[in-house]
Amino acid sequence: MDVQQLGHEHYPGNTWQDIAASDGGDLPPVLRAQSNPAQDLRPIPFERYNSPAFFDAEIERMWKRVWQFACREEHLREVGDFYVYDLARLSIVIVRAPEGLKAYRNSCRHRGTKLKPSNSTGWSQTLRCPFHAWEWSLDGGLVNRPCDWEFPHLPAADAGLRPVQVDSWNGFVFINMSAEAPPLLEYLEVLPDHFKRWDMTGWYVHTHVRKHVPANWKLAQAAFMEAYHTPFVHPEMTHVVGDHNMQHDIFSDHISRDLCAMAVPSPTAKTRLGEQEMLDAMLVGDGAMIGERTQVPPGMTARQVMADRLRTSMQADFGLDYADFSVAEMIDSLKYSVFPNVMFYPSPGLALIQQFRPDGHDPDRAIFDQMVLRPILRDGEFEVGELVEIGEHETFASVPSVDPFLASVLDQDTDIMRWQREGMYASDGGGEVLSVYQESRIRHLHDTLDKYLEKTT
Ligand code: FES
Ligand SMILES: [Fe+2]
Repeated sequence: MDVQQLGHEHYPGNTWQDIAASDGGDLPPVLRAQSNPAQDLRPIPFERYNSPAFFDAEIERMWKRVWQFACREEHLREVGDFYVYDLARLSIVIVRAPEGLKAYRNSCRHRGTKLKPSNSTGWSQTLRCPFHAWEWSLDGGLVNRPCDWEFPHLPAADAGLRPVQVDSWNGFVFINMSAEAPPLLEYLEVLPDHFKRWDMTGWYVHTHVRKHVPANWKLAQAAFMEAYHTPFVHPEMTHVVGDHNMQHDIFSDHISRDLCAMAVPSPTAKTRLGEQEMLDAMLVGDGAMIGERTQVPPGMTARQVMADRLRTSMQADFGLDYADFSVAEMIDSLKYSVFPNVMFYPSPGLALIQQFRPDGHDPDRAIFDQMVLRPILRDGEFEVGELVEIGEHETFASVPSVDPFLASVLDQDTDIMRWQREGMYASDGGGEVLSVYQESRIRHLHDTLDKYLEKTT
């Protein structure tokens, strides 16, 4: 089955590629690429979302072997800065040591006590256990322990913190708990090549909201891997977002993406707004980055005006030159998924990180982190946005720093998760039937997960 052909047949002249071409200007080759390998269109058993045994297998065979996004470089600017990344019951403390980034099991070599609280950040000259005060330098060596003579059977030289692999790419810091893992750059497959034009090292986390959601980490993430639900869960978006005609690509085991046009009507839109109305309504994403709304001159589109405004403000405010960036590259949702659980959006109009992971050792709960990125001002000054943590029954709309339109969309997405989780249990077996194209990235997530689960070593 030629799934790309499906799009041409059903949305003639209105695929993401068509919309991007109609803006004028050149698209970089990575955005002209389309990749849809054949898939096994099997049902996906619900037990993959709710079985404790399956969840345990994921921890042992997948999570302990994959590179996972943990934080950004700007979270670890100074020597002594630390950031704790938790995954189910596992916990890693990442530090900026004099010789660079280091990561350790967040567990004392004496009797196991957690060295730093889960999900905490801060500055520490050394890492010191709160129980009996064993103390390590930032490079992981034991530098002090009370009654050292009591431990002839564990010499200080052998009592270093247990290291975990850590590396960074494009400002994103990743950890890997396996000593045998391939290097990060190899794991990222096509991603560094795709991001050649999208340097995120001069950007920083401007806002960071973490929501605890009542759903398996894959179920939560899947809500952001398809826009099939958009007209029904977010009907207000159909005026300004190309949803069912989005482009979905699967490049390799760890990398897939979707490309979604902004400031165009969805093929499902009941009424069609004019270009000016679309510009006025166009608040998706970090609305503040687009700036003041202006008039759409005759012969221009809302997309072109938005992109022009953004190019101007990026130059004026940050000294960044986007003159040779296409409209689509400026304002569209370009969402790259890195297996297993993070999405990077590089366009300056919608620069985001979204991440989904188990919340404690519970198949039915996940942590959803969203970080909005902004460029660092010319003078180099910036302050990393403080984490705002909200519970299942609190809304993104209640967080003042989140763009109101984006907040309402996220609240709609997270509200539906409990219904889906409960319905999966209600079915008492069975599985999900994913669409051929629009939900292909979810199927791909399961395909790659299977590759890890089937590895016996
Ligand atoms: S448990 Fe950490 S020093 Fe005893
Ligand atoms: Fe959604």
